[in-house]
Amino acid sequence: MNTTYTGIILGIALVLAAVIYMMPSEPKIPQLEEVYWGPGQKPRKIDESIRPFKIKFEKEMIDDLRFRLNNTRNLQPSLEHSGWKYGVNSNYVPTIIDFWLNKYDFRKREDHLNRYPQFLTNIQGLDIHFVRVKPQVPKDRKLRVLPLLIVHGWPGSIVEFQKIIPLLTRPQANRDFVFEVIAPSIPGFGYSSQAAKPGLGAFEMALILKSLMLRLGYDKFYTQGGDWGAVITSYMAVLYPQHMLGMHLNLCMVLNPWTLAKTAIYSLIPWLMLDEERYLSSPLGYQIQTLIAETGYYHMQATKPDTLGIGMTDSPAGFAAYVLEKFSTITQMQNAWTDDGNLLEKFEMTELIDNLMMYWAPNKITSGFRIYAESTSSRILKMRLNNIPVKVPTACAQFPHEIIFQPEALLRDRFVNLVKVTRMKRGGHFAALEEPELLAEDIWSAVPFLMKRSELLRN
Ligand SMILES: *[C@@H]1O[C@H](CO)[C@@H](O)[C@H](O)[C@H]1NC(C)=O
Repeated sequence: MNTTYTGIILGIALVLAAVIYMMPSEPKIPQLEEVYWGPGQKPRKIDESIRPFKIKFEKEMIDDLRFRLNNTRNLQPSLEHSGWKYGVNSNYVPTIIDFWLNKYDFRKREDHLNRYPQFLTNIQGLDIHFVRVKPQVPKDRKLRVLPLLIVHGWPGSIVEFQKIIPLLTRPQANRDFVFEVIAPSIPGFGYSSQAAKPGLGAFEMALILKSLMLRLGYDKFYTQGGDWGAVITSYMAVLYPQHMLGMHLNLCMVLNPWTLAKTAIYSLIPWLMLDEERYLSSPLGYQIQTLIAETGYYHMQATKPDTLGIGMTDSPAGFAAYVLEKFSTITQMQNAWTDDGNLLEKFEMTELIDNLMMYWAPNKITSGFRIYAESTSSRILKMRLNNIPVKVPTACAQFPHEIIFQPEALLRDRFVNLVKVTRMKRGGHFAALEEPELLAEDIWSAVPFLMKRSELLRN
């Protein structure tokens, strides 16, 4: 490690130490009110029924989209031999446009996306869209049906779960339980309406999704999530542990100052570490460098989401480039050294476009960005939610190419009932889409551990 990074790390460690010193250790758990997020005044009566729903790609939307794709301006050539290091390589963009314009079968994909039962129900003034798939239990088997809420993030959608749903709802020979899957579009995404008023971030979404589960008749349930889905379900565990039997995450993160300070200290003085943890093989300096290089989008979306949304909402090529860059890089960083971003190594172009359609068709690009701003506002940061221990039994699947890796010892700083951590064989950030079998298997195998801990905690 060179001296610049040592300096940076020492600086960060000192600042964090000061911050910790000034903070009382454990913040109070804030209570959420049932804010009305819809437009205008809250109506006297809200229809709370559960209505069947099907995705419909309107002809006008398709014609308009194809016109825009067909009229994409000539792009400036990318720098020679630069791969995707400067972002999406413009030489590859025509391939994406051509696929969306000429090969993507809108009608067929609409049918495909409608193959699981979907519903809408109004919560706090917003129509919440969700997929609900019940397991097919053979008559001769007695199985416990476990409700499982699976939650996507950005730039994902319920499209990420198309392949994993049948793997979770199909009974396994050696297990006496099976899942019923509830996969919502989080507010402001896909076919869930967006808030009309400021303040709806990941924290507030925890209340909405808990209400959804209660409305469907589940007083107690399991959750699964990566990306924002992991953040939302972890908040849910902080706020409503009485409703949660356990949670499975494919992005386990502990971002409280004490843990970050420990990370910095361990990386400077590795022998302080009590266990041999792999994360030191990627030095902190490198981790910080990667974090800065890969999270510019985060800063932009957390501060000026609406400005960004105007260009993206107007240009399907621009939006596709912005999102598919993520599907390349955070699936595996080395993909940036290839001409095509290795995009199709793990994904099919059709499913990538399906995912884009969940933003484009219902016009949710801007509201999708806003989750960053609403979840990092000063009001939220003041609550110091990351310092509140998560007591609900938790299992983590750590995929080797995930953007953040923290060793088990650090994860326990927040997830105090961590029952299982699996180092996965393959895969990156979009685990459900990329490695559905591996992820599903880890969820199945985590449940007995979660159940056992849950029983212990009750007694
Ligand atoms: C694209 O535009 C060209 C030129 O206007 C037109 O000939 C062609 O049919 C269009 N293609 C599609 C798929 O709309």
